[in-house]
Amino acid sequence: MRVLVIGSGGREHALCRSLKLDPQVSELHCAPGNPGIEEVATVHPVDPLDPEQVAGLATRLRVDLVVIGPEAPLVAGVSDAVREAGFACFGPSRDAAMIEGSKSFAKEIMTAADVPTARSRTCTTEAEAAAALDEFGAPYVVKDDGLAAGKGVVVTEDRDKALAHARACERVVIEEYLDGPEVSLFALCDGSTAVPLQLAQDFKRAYDRDQGPNTGGMGSYTPLPWAPDGLTEQVMREIVHPTIGELTRRGLPYQGVLYVGLALTSKGPKVVEFNARFGDPETQVLLDRLETPLGGLLMACATGELGLDPVFKAGSAVCVVVASEGYPDSPVKGDVIRGLQSTDNAYVLHAGTAWKDGEIVSAGGRVLNVIGHGPDQESARRAAYELVGRIEMRGSHHRTDIATVK
Ligand code: AMP
Ligand code: GLY
Repeated sequence: MRVLVIGSGGREHALCRSLKLDPQVSELHCAPGNPGIEEVATVHPVDPLDPEQVAGLATRLRVDLVVIGPEAPLVAGVSDAVREAGFACFGPSRDAAMIEGSKSFAKEIMTAADVPTARSRTCTTEAEAAAALDEFGAPYVVKDDGLAAGKGVVVTEDRDKALAHARACERVVIEEYLDGPEVSLFALCDGSTAVPLQLAQDFKRAYDRDQGPNTGGMGSYTPLPWAPDGLTEQVMREIVHPTIGELTRRGLPYQGVLYVGLALTSKGPKVVEFNARFGDPETQVLLDRLETPLGGLLMACATGELGLDPVFKAGSAVCVVVASEGYPDSPVKGDVIRGLQSTDNAYVLHAGTAWKDGEIVSAGGRVLNVIGHGPDQESARRAAYELVGRIEMRGSHHRTDIATVK
């Protein structure tokens, strides 16, 4: 099987690394890729947001499967173009990806499918926003309606700040605050059925003890030994199946991964957000533990042939994100990185790196994902942090409490 992966971050490095390990995958390509991905795949300098360029590359390479990593190409219609050109594609259509691309569309689907989520109002004027803030009370949750790379959500006790965020966006969703630990469940979908991956958790705040601004994610781990029994089955029954059923009723069959971000509230699990792609950095730890060969699994989703639930290895995986100086406000780029060699139980995935004068340098906010694994969470955590300690990058920072708190 010849596979083309679209994207250039740590999630795509993890996807490529696992695809490379699948004996069914004979050729692996990635566009545009990154210096880490180059070690396992042939990379191509193609604009991942350009449907014609991506479909053209798939045609030239005569691939059997295109796997789309990030949300932006999905929302730009890349999966539609790839399917129209005759290729199997892992990733929902542009219209189905609106489950992530528009918070108000996601709310509409959840309401129609009776899926548990926070009560909400969609607001376009300051007066509407002010009324919604007062209806739900503090803490206030204000979400930019469109894609905002994990930075469009403000959660605050400060009504003025909440209103200022609403004013800065064209359209916002204001909703009730959901209390309780957050978990991620990814469901692989083939257009009619869905199967779950293992539960994972990510750490969104920039600094230790959940302080500082929201980020794209500073670390993750899987499995969740503390999660209630039967949670996965409950989420599949109450959330995933009704949601994809509602999308199908609207003529939007869902093929790809449905990312369910959940809050475990006292009244049961409720949806915080849906995404139309694999979560980053949860995917990095999930794929470390996935035993079922990835190529066959993604191909089954793309061709409507999903079968049994994916199988995971015992043990735990922990991911620590190494970020550049100034991330998330104003990341500094171009710093040389050293100490990237794997150890017996940990390795580095590249998230935001580039080549410069023969050396690997930082090229983004979240630069590296360090993955540790072991028989239990504590050994996996130690393995990850031991390798983080070997990495040299001027000004870098990381959280020191990943997988110690929930
Ligand atoms: P989202 O982009 O919707 O995932 O929001 C980013 C983060 O904001 C989430 O991971 C939560 O930590 C927080 N958040 C979003 N919605 C809510 C809510 N209704 N109640 C509490 N926290 C929320
Ligand atoms: N882990 C958060 C996200 O992928 O949106």
